[in-house]
Amino acid sequence: MPALPPVSDALKRAFDPARFAEAAAEASEALSGHLERAQRKHATSSYPAPSPEQERAHWQNETSWMTGRKGMHDQVIARSNHLHDPRYMGHQVSAVLPEAATTGMVTDMLNNGQAIYEMGPSNAAQEDLLMSEIGEQLGLPLGCGGVLCHGGTLGNLVALMAAQRKVARDMGLDSWQDGVRAFPTPLVVLVSAKAHYCIDRAMRTMGWGGDGTVLVQTNEKHQMCVDDLQAQIKRVHDEGKRVLAVVGSSCTTSAGAYDPLEGLASACKEYGIWFHVDGAHGASAAFSDAHRHLVKGIEHADSVVLDFHKTCGIPALCTGVFYARHAESFLPFSQHAEYLWDDADDLDWWDTGKRTFECTKRMLSTRLAAIKAEFGWSIWAELVDRMWALGQALATLIEGRNGWELAMAPQANIVCFRPSPREHLREHLHADRWNEVVKTLRKRHLAEGSGYVVQTEFGGNVWLRCTLMNPLTEEADLVHMLDEFESLLPSVLKSMAVKNEADPRMEMEAKARRQGEEQN
Ligand SMILES: Cc1ncc(COP(=O)(O)O)c(C=O)c1O
Repeated sequence: MPALPPVSDALKRAFDPARFAEAAAEASEALSGHLERAQRKHATSSYPAPSPEQERAHWQNETSWMTGRKGMHDQVIARSNHLHDPRYMGHQVSAVLPEAATTGMVTDMLNNGQAIYEMGPSNAAQEDLLMSEIGEQLGLPLGCGGVLCHGGTLGNLVALMAAQRKVARDMGLDSWQDGVRAFPTPLVVLVSAKAHYCIDRAMRTMGWGGDGTVLVQTNEKHQMCVDDLQAQIKRVHDEGKRVLAVVGSSCTTSAGAYDPLEGLASACKEYGIWFHVDGAHGASAAFSDAHRHLVKGIEHADSVVLDFHKTCGIPALCTGVFYARHAESFLPFSQHAEYLWDDADDLDWWDTGKRTFECTKRMLSTRLAAIKAEFGWSIWAELVDRMWALGQALATLIEGRNGWELAMAPQANIVCFRPSPREHLREHLHADRWNEVVKTLRKRHLAEGSGYVVQTEFGGNVWLRCTLMNPLTEEADLVHMLDEFESLLPSVLKSMAVKNEADPRMEMEAKARRQGEEQN
């Protein structure tokens, strides 16, 4: 038998503890420098805005590939979207609580990939305890529980799989074995027309195709209409189909609208339907005394999804899938895996892989545990209160500004707005043309402005969209962002040959409208 060769010098060097200590100190220095610069708004913009081609060319020509990790870290830090810059107002990803990043270093090193208890004893135990504790804070009953997974898209899929298995069990069917063929009639999910696309994706993934998702009408505030929900449930039954679940959005992605969960819950109770709440973005309102009313009715949910990487300051991805009854977290899967566990159907909470789509997963619960240990859960109420207050502050500024309009009064930290076509144009412009103006304005702001704002579309109109994710954003940052858009608008209109002379008739109409709104 050939002798085992000695460990190479390269491997010894790679695993050298002293080398790690040096690298960690360097990384920590680089990150605290970054945090300090971002908070000080040191860069010209919170987002460097290179085109994909420019960025690719940069990395093709970059020498830091050859000069080690420090140069690479510096480059990546400089060239990324800076969520800790108070001018960041873009997508729904948290400006992480810096504490959580240090925990990431610890858990990355330990790499206890869970699935089975022996591969992550402390994080498996923490996960089970914390999911029950946080579930109760969301309003779920004693005896609730759940699992952590990688993202709201996956979390919603898993919760709907639980609902499907419950329907199968109630009908005496084995859908784990027979799949959708087990069901004598098609199953559908009922969800608001403004819900996140991942619900539709989940139903298609589960094998129900495009017909698996029935969209329920929303009101002018983008909230699900309970009357239409009742009507759709009846229609679905009349067609001989069965409802797998009703999904309430807390809140919607585009505009941050909260569905009336109490109304949804009573419809579900009446018909014996699984009630799921997609609270990926805004179920965290439950942590705040001031905003808990937004999720009234969540206490009746059978399952809830919450993304801790959105409004709770945790690095992506970290999603909770909560169940009102702990044992139901075992519904989605019955995977036989002889190298992992003895019996697929034993309800062993400690083998988290029995309840998650993932086999190996990151030590997600340790991130939550560290937040609890360092700050206590009140930090989440602080975050929600601040971000939601920023949403209100921005809405107030827009309402007070001539020539701008809000899509709707914000309920959370998501604000959609645009320059008002009525107040900028004397010519009648087709909605598509004004949509082009808004899109061009956003592109110009991306290239020339100092912050990061995104866009969305609903009701045939394109809107600028801010999600106030950074609690350190101040009113002055909001004013500055609006000023930037305002100063870019005339040249955008000019470049698009849109006439923007004020039309006295329209101005009078707009003024009368504003006065009417004030009186209301
Ligand atoms: C309401 C809602 N559900 C689900 C998702 C998807 O979450 P993730 O991006 O974590 O997969 C989002 C993302 O924005 C969301 O807003």
